[in-house]
Amino acid sequence: MSTYLVTGGAGFIGHHIVRRLLDDGHTVRILDNFSTGKRERVPTGAELFELDMTDVDAIRPAFVGVDGVFHTAALPRVPFSIDHPIESTQANIMGTLNVLVAARDAGVKRLVYSASSSAYGSQPTLPLTPDMRPNPMNPYALQKYVGEHFCQKFAELYGIETVSLRYFNVYGPNMADEGAYVTVISVFKRQTEAGEPLTIAGDGEQTRDFTHVFDVVNANIKAMTSPKVGKGEIVNVGAGEAHTMNKIAQAFGGPTVFVEGRKNEARHTLADIALTKELIDWEPQIKFNDGLAELLKAWGIEKSGQ
Ligand SMILES: NC(=O)c1ccc[n+]([C@@H]2O[C@H](COP(=O)([O-])OP(=O)(O)OC[C@H]3O[C@@H](n4cnc5c(N)ncnc54)[C@H](O)[C@@H]3O)[C@@H](O)[C@H]2O)c1
Repeated sequence: MSTYLVTGGAGFIGHHIVRRLLDDGHTVRILDNFSTGKRERVPTGAELFELDMTDVDAIRPAFVGVDGVFHTAALPRVPFSIDHPIESTQANIMGTLNVLVAARDAGVKRLVYSASSSAYGSQPTLPLTPDMRPNPMNPYALQKYVGEHFCQKFAELYGIETVSLRYFNVYGPNMADEGAYVTVISVFKRQTEAGEPLTIAGDGEQTRDFTHVFDVVNANIKAMTSPKVGKGEIVNVGAGEAHTMNKIAQAFGGPTVFVEGRKNEARHTLADIALTKELIDWEPQIKFNDGLAELLKAWGIEKSGQ
């Protein structure tokens, strides 16, 4: 059994990793400043370090005696990064650098970095493969991309093992549904609950590759233990299926309204996971239609469009 630190362990993805690690019998620490995380997501079995990763000296104690770090902490929304480029850069770039330094200095063996498919931006062809030239189209995408490079440099320069997982739109139980910066599934949930029409950006024919959080957790566990990674490799973590916003709105049912489309984001995303299979032996287990149907059921939302 190992001791793991999950940065952002009170966040959506981080808290699912924490639960899985505890279930597997590991010792688990959480480093979080609760900027977007929630206290109720911290289980009694985990040790909490309520710290801000933008302060490198403050976070050092959390890393002492740790075997591996799952680095999920970030200020994670594209529109937030456009509204707040400095704050998001401090958290997503300086925070990541600080986490790498603290992990290196504490002798941590491996760090798994939560990277983002937004690094691809618009590409001439699909599916998206990690050898494509990145095209970050907004501050968040750029920040997450820079983090991948720091992970690679730390493996090269200091020997700490790192691997970057580029997640494609993650959804699932306990996903964030409060505040101004939530993802489309949560926006549709709120609008359905409020009896409002679903707002669809642009023509609604843009596509996203939605990935269930349980699959993302599996990818993290495999990335932490695979003997084939550790040198800053970058792999996709996506379900490999494209879904339009119109189709998702149909699954929620009810009226829709079209609003101005979002610029500064790719129109389509679709993961190629051949390299992920090869390097960390990972494949998605949950089909989007099943994962979404389960969520809608849990939220008491009747599926009317299928
Ligand atoms: N959710 C997605 O669809 C998605 C897609 C691609 C990549 N990612 C990446 O996955 C990771 C987790 O995303 P999420 O959706 O769970 O986000 P989240 O907002 O739910 O979780 C992020 C956590 O980090 C914490 N945090 C933020 N700034 C901090 C700081 N300065 N110090 C300490 N803790 C801090 C927050 O309080 C929160 O608990 C992020 O790195 C994000 O960029 C997410």
